[in-house]
Amino acid sequence: MSVKTIYPRRHLKGEITVPGDKSISHRSIMFGSIALGTTVITNFLKGADCLSTIGCFRKMGVEITQEGEAIYVHGRGLRGLSAPQETLEVGNSGTTTRLLSGILAGQSFSSVMSGDESLNLRPMGRIMSPLNSMGAHITSIHGNNCAPLRIEPGVLRGICYRSPVASAQVKSAVLLAGLYADGKTSVTEPALSRNHTELMLKSFGADVTSAIHEDGSATAQIQPCRELFAQEICVPGDISSAAYFIAAGLLVPGSELLIRNVGTNPTRAGILKVCEAMGADITYLEARDTLPHAGRQDTGEPTADILVRHSALHGITIGGDLIPTLIDEIPAIAVIAACAEGTTVIRDAAELKVKETNRIDTVTENLRAMGADITPTEDGMIIKGGAPLKGAPIKSYLDHRIAMAFAVAGLTAEGETKIEDSQCVDVSYPEFFRTLESI
Ligand code: S3P
Repeated sequence: MSVKTIYPRRHLKGEITVPGDKSISHRSIMFGSIALGTTVITNFLKGADCLSTIGCFRKMGVEITQEGEAIYVHGRGLRGLSAPQETLEVGNSGTTTRLLSGILAGQSFSSVMSGDESLNLRPMGRIMSPLNSMGAHITSIHGNNCAPLRIEPGVLRGICYRSPVASAQVKSAVLLAGLYADGKTSVTEPALSRNHTELMLKSFGADVTSAIHEDGSATAQIQPCRELFAQEICVPGDISSAAYFIAAGLLVPGSELLIRNVGTNPTRAGILKVCEAMGADITYLEARDTLPHAGRQDTGEPTADILVRHSALHGITIGGDLIPTLIDEIPAIAVIAACAEGTTVIRDAAELKVKETNRIDTVTENLRAMGADITPTEDGMIIKGGAPLKGAPIKSYLDHRIAMAFAVAGLTAEGETKIEDSQCVDVSYPEFFRTLESI
């Protein structure tokens, strides 16, 4: 077991870049693999999750190479993947499992996907049900609606699916299967989740339209297509990784951190809104769009440099449509809330229970270990902030976001904080501890 010891710090100063966005990196490999031509990706995240995606497509005959800093995906076209000879290993990656299910559902060969202990406990019924209603044949090998999953060939028809959860993974799985269906497919979700699939599929030439309705629900629609076409993709920095340095800059007295090239897509940027509402001093510099396809103005991913200064923060209530835009940042937000004056209520976030760990439980256990006042609820948590945190042993339970959020908590705590199984940060941010030590 790797243990990282974190000591209290003052005056975090400097300029950092965070690694490429995990969600966008996954999609660039997947869509590049099923497009015609060579997709060139720069600033690709070489975290364990995205490497699992690469491994799966290599097993289906896709040549993926690196030259200098760029990744080249030699696409095989929508129907050009070959049958894998072995199980597709998805590791810890829910995004790989769920999005790949949508692609595999449309193939003419059988496949099996399996992951690590945590992944194989996560709910897959949420993608099996819509995909099977399109005509896919996906079964849970142990009959528990979890991976390992077996996917047999099926003939797909378009559906109008109403998802009970705002989930980009569910939405993306159905839209990807829709590429192979006999007519249009739509997904309506209760609130808009991250829209990277819609933006990037459009840039690859798919016919995708999106609408947000008056009640906040959102529909994305796709038409089946003959082929997708390779693109050049410049992956923006991951706001979910920037979140830990935003938190560190806000919480550690005397700090001033410049975080360069952060993706600020509004479907991901809820943490910025929340921090500002809590009183954060955040300045946006150099706002621009990275366009994955030069000819289309409607497919860009916005980015900005973000300057964060130590700030006096106060508690707020966080819920509703904002939740999908910050779901992965809640461990970091909980740490910020524990250091802010007053009460923070996080609600409508029951999805936290089905992430890499049950993050309501893992945040509660670790914040309590550090002496914070936190009450878990059915769909979130209530944190009474302001009391100084005490260093403590932190159980990451191999959840990368718990390890990183509590490393930040350790910077502001009295005494030593020991992050257990700290190597799990490799899932999304292999350089995390080195970057933390550099500021
Ligand atoms: C992701 C979607 C979210 C998020 C995950 C990445 C994606 O999951 O938590 O880390 O890339 O589509 P859900 O779709 O389950 O909300």
